[in-house]
Amino acid sequence: MDLMRSTDIGRQHFPQLFEIVEDMRKSLELSARGHNVSISSLMQGKLLGTLFLEPSTRTRLSFEAAMKRMGGDFISVPAGEGSSAKKGESIRDTILTVSQYVDALVVRADSAFGTWGQSFDCPIINGGDGANEHPTQALIDAYTIYRAFGSLENLTVAMVGDLKHGRTVHSLVRLLRQNTNNTICMFGSDMPHPYIQFHNDKIVNLPDAGVLIDYLPKLDVLYMTRNQTERGSDGKEPFILNSKLANLMHPDAIILHPMPRRKEIHPEVDKNERAAYFEQSKNGVPVRMAILQWILGNGRPI
Ligand code: NCD
Repeated sequence: MDLMRSTDIGRQHFPQLFEIVEDMRKSLELSARGHNVSISSLMQGKLLGTLFLEPSTRTRLSFEAAMKRMGGDFISVPAGEGSSAKKGESIRDTILTVSQYVDALVVRADSAFGTWGQSFDCPIINGGDGANEHPTQALIDAYTIYRAFGSLENLTVAMVGDLKHGRTVHSLVRLLRQNTNNTICMFGSDMPHPYIQFHNDKIVNLPDAGVLIDYLPKLDVLYMTRNQTERGSDGKEPFILNSKLANLMHPDAIILHPMPRRKEIHPEVDKNERAAYFEQSKNGVPVRMAILQWILGNGRPI
């Protein structure tokens, strides 16, 4: 199977997927303490391709780490400059070619290849397709939320920042809308229509920063994002979360950010009990291990 959209693994599978993530997480902890763990041979003999035609730190390295931790291997193109895209090759041709060499391929590019509906020679995992989606990030976000609240139901989530160009929020809103009782508040540039074709969902557009601040005590999750200047973000000054504002939130609420951050979360917030964005990026490895197990290991529990 391909993982092009955050809904490609349906919500009915989340309990099983998250159980695999938990197993991976615990095994990683045991392995860090020097124990032998069975996960270290799950991907033996498997080869992952990582084709990143746009910059990446977390997505690429956590996929590569995930594959290595499971005893598999990967091949990649040196960050951006090394691929034939530089010679004018189309992204489609590059994906077609590399998909012939590997067992699964993670792709990041500046075009919305996730919407092509094309199949390739191996499963393709969307590592970010332009301003469209970033499904594996949404699964990391969902797992982080699930760990904090024990559920993905009845939540009030605010998404803040460049909602027009930010692919992580596009994927997360699609994932969360599968549970129609979640309330999603939005503050920032307008999210394009295809991502918010809701049926019963509750969407609250917050018109200004004052209303967002009034909403902070009601939130379970505050999801901050940066201005996507490379995609033509309007360059407006972002809403900046500082400790004083973070402390208006409920003590059990969490603050997420897909990272990288710019100035939208002041570093003083890192010490706040609600700050969960580094835990979120740490979850990247076990979640991506579970995704690889789902796709290449047929979702078998370990
Ligand atoms: C995000 C992305 O690439 O869309 N980064 C990530 O993979 N965690 C967010 C961003 O770049 O703003």
